[in-house]
Amino acid sequence: MRAPPDIFLGLSYDGPMQQRPIPSTGEMLPIVGVGTYRGFDVGGDAGTRARLTEVLKLVVATKGGVVDSSPMYGRAEDVSGALLQEANLRNRAFIATKVWTSGQARGIAQMEKSFKLFRTDRIDLMQVHNLLDTRAHLDTLAGWKKEGRVRYVGVTHYHSGAYNELEAALNNEKVDFVQLNYSLDDRMAEQRLLPLAEHKGIAVIVNLPFGGGSLLSEVSKQPLPPFAKEIGASTWSQVLLKFVLGHPGVTVAIPGTGNPTHMAENLAAADGDLARGREAILKWAKGRL
Ligand SMILES: NC(=O)c1ccc[n+]([C@@H]2O[C@H](COP(=O)([O-])OP(=O)(O)OC[C@H]3O[C@@H](n4cnc5c(N)ncnc54)[C@H](OP(=O)(O)O)[C@@H]3O)[C@@H](O)[C@H]2O)c1
Repeated sequence: MRAPPDIFLGLSYDGPMQQRPIPSTGEMLPIVGVGTYRGFDVGGDAGTRARLTEVLKLVVATKGGVVDSSPMYGRAEDVSGALLQEANLRNRAFIATKVWTSGQARGIAQMEKSFKLFRTDRIDLMQVHNLLDTRAHLDTLAGWKKEGRVRYVGVTHYHSGAYNELEAALNNEKVDFVQLNYSLDDRMAEQRLLPLAEHKGIAVIVNLPFGGGSLLSEVSKQPLPPFAKEIGASTWSQVLLKFVLGHPGVTVAIPGTGNPTHMAENLAAADGDLARGREAILKWAKGRL
């Protein structure tokens, strides 16, 4: 039997969520958004789509929550765009997507398609995915930004092997955002990239806060330590997110999920004293991770 669309209405996020500024404009963003990789690459099943609508309702309840996608994520842009439109939520979400192809003409065609899939004539943030042909796409995007078709531009990567290239992009290109991997067991971004982004006034979006799920699975093998309760975390996912959000150079984290219960847990991780939480988590992790 299919789940009725309102089955998840018990979940809510009452906020207000902590926000941090986008340095290039001062616009404030809620510090937890959602990634659509895997979770939103789905077909037409009504129950699945109802769950995803619930995820989106939760994330926009933070007033402007980031919804991050990419042409790389199969049907995710189309599904996110359709569900935001059906629920009349487009204007309450901060839509971030990416261009992931070589060549200026192919980039333009792909980005035009993203506008259609998101059912919008304005994308909040367009990012060059994994630095693929950065120069060509940023040239296009500089013009589109002037025209108001995109509000912000950025570059992304997911692996420390690309940090030299990412660093060069932050130094040489004019971008509002960088999106990179950062988690309790993968902290290399702390060394150069987070300080550089802060110095240059570039907002930071953190992808893979749970190591793509593997870090979360690993730590979840053990019971939650007593300190978790003291820092306001009731799940391992919240411990891992509080660690990331406790870094002052992070603007937003975008854990990927298609599960409304997980989304509600992830949003609640933004509550409390994040700097103090981070200290306690680091103390616990020393010698363990
Ligand atoms: N190069 C790039 O630009 C790049 C690369 C990688 C990722 N990204 C972006 O960053 C986002 C995040 O990365 P990711 O999705 O690959 O990895 P992630 O956020 O580190 O982990 C996602 C995994 O964690 C699970 N999860 C999420 N919240 C949970 C919770 N509260 N409790 C238990 N499990 C939970 C998800 O499963 P459920 O669906 O079951 O919750 C999923 O399996 C992506 O979705 C994408 O938007 C960008």
